[in-house]
Amino acid sequence: MESLQHQALDNPLAFGASAAAITAALVFGAWIYRDYTAWIDFGTGGTSANFSGYLRITKFRLLRAFSGDDLKDASSLSPDGLSYLPKQLPRREGQLPAIIERTLPQRQYPAKTPLDKAAYDRLHALPKKYAEQLNDALKLDKSVTEGRTTDAIYALPAHRHGAHDRVLGDEIAHVHPAENSLHVWLTEADTYKVVSAGWGERFPLASLGMVNAGWTFVYAPRSMEEVAVVEEIFKAGIGHLTGKRP
Ligand SMILES: *[C@@H]1O[C@H](CO)[C@@H](O)[C@H](O)[C@H]1NC(C)=O
Repeated sequence: MESLQHQALDNPLAFGASAAAITAALVFGAWIYRDYTAWIDFGTGGTSANFSGYLRITKFRLLRAFSGDDLKDASSLSPDGLSYLPKQLPRREGQLPAIIERTLPQRQYPAKTPLDKAAYDRLHALPKKYAEQLNDALKLDKSVTEGRTTDAIYALPAHRHGAHDRVLGDEIAHVHPAENSLHVWLTEADTYKVVSAGWGERFPLASLGMVNAGWTFVYAPRSMEEVAVVEEIFKAGIGHLTGKRP
């Protein structure tokens, strides 16, 4: 204490600068700690829930922050090529949802008003419904891209049609249990349609060339009518991976 006082008296400017540096380090440390615990508490998706996982997602977050790439902008995608969606998707109404800034897992902030039970049940039953209906071409299993925390549908290898991605494998789609959004693998033309009509956005690692550009984040539906649109998008994913749209 005494030596600090001496220092302050001897060189007030340097003392002020080091006090500011210490304060900044403490604030930054507290911010990291809060962000880290929030990430663990929310669920880390497919990333290991420890500090090395956190460093990994933080690296992507920084890369993205400096890239200036807006995931809600479809203009980097090609609108041409195969499509399994209806010609014209209706425009999603209202504001686009706010996305959690940590980049991974790609999630929106949960809605303040919960989805009504019938719509919620229909949404979360989609993987099982199509795995049963098309059991010769699809199977239900835990999602590998989500670290096996939720159900996903997969194309059976014999029915796999074209698309190939090292990370995604045969996974077509899954629904996120905490906030009702989805990831669906679409053709690039269909990702273009979904993003342009405001139903979803691009995947952050796609523009870094790490995952196929058709891996699409679909916003949580807010009503039964929106679940119906989301189901069309889900079916388009099945069409993309199997060549047959249900
Ligand atoms: C984090 O978890 C992964 C997978 O469980 C493991 O391979 C890695 O060694 C862990 N890292 C640390 C720092 O604990």
